[in-house]
Amino acid sequence: MSGEPKREQWASRIGLVLAMAGNAVGLGNFLRFPAQAVKNGGGAFLIPYMVAFLVLGLPLMWIEWTMGRYGGQFGHHSTPGIFDSMGKRRFWKYFGIFGLWSNLIIAAFYLYIESWCMAYAGYSLMNGFKETSPEKYFDWLTGHTPNSILAISPVGMIFFAACIIINIAILSRGLARGIEIVSKIGMPVLILFATLLAIRGLMITPESDPHAVESALVGLNYVWEPKFDSLTNPSVWLAAAGQIFFTLSIGMGTMHCYSSYLRKDDDVTLNGATGAWTNEFCEVILGGSILIPIAVAYLGLAEVQQKVASGSGFGLGFNVFPTLFNHWGALAPAAGFLWFGLLFFAAITSSLAMGQPIMAFLQQEFRLSRAKSALAFAGMLLPMAIPVAIFNSQSFFDEFDFWGGTYCLVLMAVGEAVLFSWVFGVEKGWAEMMRGADLKVPRFFFWVMKYVTPTLLIVILLASTFKPSCGWDKYVQSLGTSSPEKFEWASDSMVGKLLHRDVELKPDATPEELTFDKNLKIARTADRLMMLASFAGFGALVWIAWKRRSAEERTITT
Ligand code: PHE
Repeated sequence: MSGEPKREQWASRIGLVLAMAGNAVGLGNFLRFPAQAVKNGGGAFLIPYMVAFLVLGLPLMWIEWTMGRYGGQFGHHSTPGIFDSMGKRRFWKYFGIFGLWSNLIIAAFYLYIESWCMAYAGYSLMNGFKETSPEKYFDWLTGHTPNSILAISPVGMIFFAACIIINIAILSRGLARGIEIVSKIGMPVLILFATLLAIRGLMITPESDPHAVESALVGLNYVWEPKFDSLTNPSVWLAAAGQIFFTLSIGMGTMHCYSSYLRKDDDVTLNGATGAWTNEFCEVILGGSILIPIAVAYLGLAEVQQKVASGSGFGLGFNVFPTLFNHWGALAPAAGFLWFGLLFFAAITSSLAMGQPIMAFLQQEFRLSRAKSALAFAGMLLPMAIPVAIFNSQSFFDEFDFWGGTYCLVLMAVGEAVLFSWVFGVEKGWAEMMRGADLKVPRFFFWVMKYVTPTLLIVILLASTFKPSCGWDKYVQSLGTSSPEKFEWASDSMVGKLLHRDVELKPDATPEELTFDKNLKIARTADRLMMLASFAGFGALVWIAWKRRSAEERTITT
């Protein structure tokens, strides 16, 4: 190989911001946010959410941009190298593995959903949901069969494979010719599609539409009407912080990677804030004006709440929505296409962001060409993606989502906040962040970065590791009373997951259900072993890379 590969760069500032916004704007904005809002009492969710945005989201966004640009100056484009350039201890580069590993784990299930969007968009356009119920289509596409641990669908696999191939092909074109171009097209298209749907959706009233039971504005009001009593409810705070993490793509290494392609004096504060605000616009304004208002208009608030409680935002988006569009008559195929098309664009600009850090790591540390690193990424992805596609979603799919897509994001954020503010030093970090800054960040954030963000992150990590099943709010309230709640691990707490709490919650299970539970536990053990193995695999790669580095340095100096 002849020397270092040419340094990649963003072609334009607008391209950079759109790519960053595309990274953040994803399925989380249009499916996860509405579901979280419904589950946590609508307007009750919004205040903790905004606070989490200000004291966790924005500061971490700036921290990640600053770290990325800093590491990029030493030629690092993924978190092992970036962290290594900021902390002296060997620990940090191994901690940086999270910024590669989480991406692989999330990509494995995220790309699967992305492939559903593709299939659903096409099927909507063919007016398919007039004849087939979306549930039936979903089961056909995913191979889902009740009480079966396997879920195999040849068609679903073909769509999944196609989706992976598209992503790999775009990644192999490089930063400016791949990701940047797709973001420049995808983001405006997505915003246009979402705006059209939101406008049409908000016009629904029982007077103008015989199928409507409510005005869509009732749903909108539900999202926006502030309820201050939520401020004392820790579960709502946890949910709000979790949503902020996922939606801004924090704690993943993707922001670091994108900003590592900046030049030394390029602005990070204004660009970072613009990316974050764009995401919030797409989440709260657009994301909050489509799924809930339309669903509430046709189904009523109570039914929507019940549907979300028993399923998820994904169920609402994929299983319920296509039927509702059928009330729009001749517009139905187009509406379905706009909805799933916008989800697809939102998803692809995020999934590309997951691939780039791994690509950059392989290119930089192992001197692989772009095409070869794209293939190597595909090679790592397949062993994780295939089980996601062939096993019941309660195993690999859900588990990858929990460990890679929720828990470890917070863990990584704790580490990077400590690294930035306490190891690298917040004074030095602040100066680094303000170099070339087009937005003068108020000094207030200096203190937030130094004390508030790291402390809150540690509290959140602990609270989601050791959560009681009745929720922290009920638990804390009951402590002083005569009947304190028993501490049982919540099924979505870290410890509860380890103990398979959510597999054992049915005392009156039928024999089939019992067999299923047994199989599910086996599958979950298998998926955890795979996650551990892939983490160790990245560890080995980092180890080898640094061994080679020091060997090279030695040959240069001798
Ligand atoms: N932020 C994306 C979303 O809202 C998800 C994502 C996670 C993207 C991790 C990149 C990396 O859907």
